[in-house]
Amino acid sequence: MSFAELFGREPHGRWAAPGRVNLIGEHVDYARGLCLPFAIAQRTVVEVATRDDSRVRLASLAEPGGFDGTLDDIGSGSPAGWAGYAAGVLWALRADGHAVGGVDLLVTDTVPLGAGLSSSAALECSTAVAVDELFGLGLDRRVLAAACQRAENDIVGAATGGMDQAASLLAKAGHALLLDTRDGATRQVPFAPADAGLGLLVIDTRVRHRLADGRYGARRASVEKAAAALRLPSLREATLDQVDTLDGELRPRARHVVTEIVRVRETVKLLADGRIDEIGPLLDASHTSLAGDFEVSCAELDLAVSTARGAGALGARLTGGGFGGSAIALVPLAAVDAVASAVRAAFAREDLRSPEIRTAEPSAGAARESLHGPGTAERVDRLQDEIAALPVVDPRSPDGMLGYDEHGLPGPAGRSR
Ligand code: GLA
Repeated sequence: MSFAELFGREPHGRWAAPGRVNLIGEHVDYARGLCLPFAIAQRTVVEVATRDDSRVRLASLAEPGGFDGTLDDIGSGSPAGWAGYAAGVLWALRADGHAVGGVDLLVTDTVPLGAGLSSSAALECSTAVAVDELFGLGLDRRVLAAACQRAENDIVGAATGGMDQAASLLAKAGHALLLDTRDGATRQVPFAPADAGLGLLVIDTRVRHRLADGRYGARRASVEKAAAALRLPSLREATLDQVDTLDGELRPRARHVVTEIVRVRETVKLLADGRIDEIGPLLDASHTSLAGDFEVSCAELDLAVSTARGAGALGARLTGGGFGGSAIALVPLAAVDAVASAVRAAFAREDLRSPEIRTAEPSAGAARESLHGPGTAERVDRLQDEIAALPVVDPRSPDGMLGYDEHGLPGPAGRSR
């Protein structure tokens, strides 16, 4: 089924936004922490045409369901299902006072669903760049990222942080995105495993998770409760000594957040120093903390991680929200096949569904895919220039990685606003 067959006319363009893998910095984006995601090659693609009324028609070749209503029909929980992620972006931009009209939108391709690779953020972000361009909004990508996050929080009802949307909109190929969720400051950190003879395996356990269910929200609530108990604005400001004064499960939950932020800083230092092959122990420690203190792992993720390590991975951890989805493993290129086979064999021994294993390449953020229709090549160039202009940590610069600035980021930070 094509756009023309479905809607009776041609789309005004096609936009794509990537999924993400988080290298490290898990469950800290709603605690004003630091995270280090990168965009993957897999993309969600939308074809969109504007309308001169307020009707919104959404359809997908990848999933059943959709939406046929008006802009005013979009609200909390409506539309339900995948359409809420796309419609929510229209709603959030309108709520900010932007002149957004109706659209016809077809999702033609998607990041693997439910694999913990942020297919939902990819749908939000592809919709956002399309709508931004088609209605001539000219918004900064950080503003678009914030709108996408509100779509997810307020319309879909998943209380997620902003990491996935920032990665999908701001990532640069060959880099990971250091995101300071305290003020939205970002930095591009060189991350090219293949150049160092390494591969980053993404092991999809095929255990499907849903972020809108209660467990993610419960973790977030504990983190907020811990900050309140310490009378701090967030756990970003907490020390381990303060964490030790917390009672019950708040203590391990908060300990994860505080130690994970330190691990992000250490990972960034090693990467900026060209020591990518030394980050394995930090990935391992992140998994231990997520499984033990934060309790968001599951048997399949633990099996993938321990088997990958045993078969030669330098480090491995669950990535994303947890409770299923994917694990990552940093593996010498020569050992990639052996690690993948060992993980498949371990799953087979346990009678588990065979995991889907891919290698991830740090890729570019969202962009228009076709240049015909309204919207100009200059605008595409400008968006790409915007991304290219984001500061890159240069390990050779004299002050590159010395000390931390006011964001707690090593070296000079990219200004967000
Ligand atoms: C999901 C959420 C993110 C983040 C991660 C955990 O991917 O969408 O905002 O909280 O979980 O790091």
